[in-house]
Amino acid sequence: MSKTATLTVNGKVYELPMIESTIGDTGIDISKLRSQTSFITLDPGFANTGSCRSSITYLDGEKGVLRYRGIPIKEVAEKATFVETAYLLIYGELPTKEQLSDFSHAFSRHANLHEDMKNFFLGYPNTGHPMAMLSAMICALSAYYPELLKPEPSDQEIDLMTIQLMSKIRTICACTYKKSIGEPFIYAREDYDYVANFLHMMFSTPTKEYKIQKPVVNALRTLLILHGDHEQNCSTSTVRLVGSSWANLFASISAGVCALWGPLHGGANQKVVEMLEEMHSTGADITKYIERAKDSNDPYRLMGFGHRVYKNYDPRARIIKSKCDDLFNTLGVHDPLLDIAVKLENAVLKDDYFKERKLYPNVDFYSGIIYKAIGIPANMFPVLFAIGRLPGWIAHWREMKASKETRIGRPRQVYTGEIERDFVPIEKRK
Ligand code: ACO
Repeated sequence: MSKTATLTVNGKVYELPMIESTIGDTGIDISKLRSQTSFITLDPGFANTGSCRSSITYLDGEKGVLRYRGIPIKEVAEKATFVETAYLLIYGELPTKEQLSDFSHAFSRHANLHEDMKNFFLGYPNTGHPMAMLSAMICALSAYYPELLKPEPSDQEIDLMTIQLMSKIRTICACTYKKSIGEPFIYAREDYDYVANFLHMMFSTPTKEYKIQKPVVNALRTLLILHGDHEQNCSTSTVRLVGSSWANLFASISAGVCALWGPLHGGANQKVVEMLEEMHSTGADITKYIERAKDSNDPYRLMGFGHRVYKNYDPRARIIKSKCDDLFNTLGVHDPLLDIAVKLENAVLKDDYFKERKLYPNVDFYSGIIYKAIGIPANMFPVLFAIGRLPGWIAHWREMKASKETRIGRPRQVYTGEIERDFVPIEKRK
């Protein structure tokens, strides 16, 4: 027998169906609440609201667990390529050899942009933030595939949009970088895999090939995998919400990029490095910054700490931290920012303010230091996050399209404004 929850409002009792999960939070179905009771729920930030049923990613923030399609993140990060991970997230299963080869070859075939798109980049100032260009270019891609922009595209059409996006996002990101430093765009190479090709388009020049180094490819691959999906976060919920109006996949992903940009979400990795640089330039006195972050009258926060869902060490941060050590040891480089980061983490983990609020390092705390070691400038960090998160966004958009439950996203509100008043002519206004 299916379980129900009871809700008593003004002495009247209502039975609400309960939706069982395979693991994790059980839902109380309030989809008929308003029609049955004339009440709505209020949940700012949606911290207690499930917006859909999903079978892509499971996470337990209290225990620090994260699984893609049931597979623990540590295993995926250690054993899979980024393309394999994308296939797993999007199609629900690990690919066979043949499926993986087809998927990878499709990326090679579609890597280059329509030549006309170069003009779009040229119109931007060199100082323009790469996230502004990325969201615009992804939306602009929709102009090149008018035949795919149907409210109800077929599976093959969705597959084609998936390939175009997954492949071209690398090229667009590399072009935003080349534009910012005034260098010519570099075309993808057919003989390079996904991550190596991105590095090649970023760092090769017409006169000098960038030397692909395995430890660098490996570190970047791991970072992209760790960012692959994180269930109903701000940007993914945006992609689903925009897509729920039957907006096309390119438009929905472009909106996701904008949502990711904010410093409380994907923009945090850039802010972490800026914060560490400031600490370094002012003599690495971390105490002052910790005290500021604890002051309730100061909006200052330690970037890279805290998470809406993780109330334990973010499992991705643990993996990234070990990658950080590996990369620095293999490349034989030393970055004083890493020393400050470790010092800051140790101090924060011992501090009662952070302990009481369960604020641990999140995925963004160490990722920026790795990007920096690879030679990627700070304003490109959120762009790298977007490349990693793209398979997750696509998987959610596709899941939403395939679901029979999806309605256009349209929350209600508890109105707190004036009830009704007269319009005052301008000459009588005070
Ligand atoms: N530094 C100092 N205090 C913090 C921090 C922080 N980084 N994060 C949260 N707090 C405090 C808040 O001030 C609040 O204190 P209070 O209870 O005394 O008012 C308490 O901890 C709870 O914070 P909320 O803002 O309610 O937590 P929420 O779940 O809404 O926010 C968020 C989560 C946005 C990630 C927050 O922890 C934060 O701003 N962190 C810094 C930015 C960051 O690293 N973002 C990346 C997140 S990971 C990602 O998106 C991939």
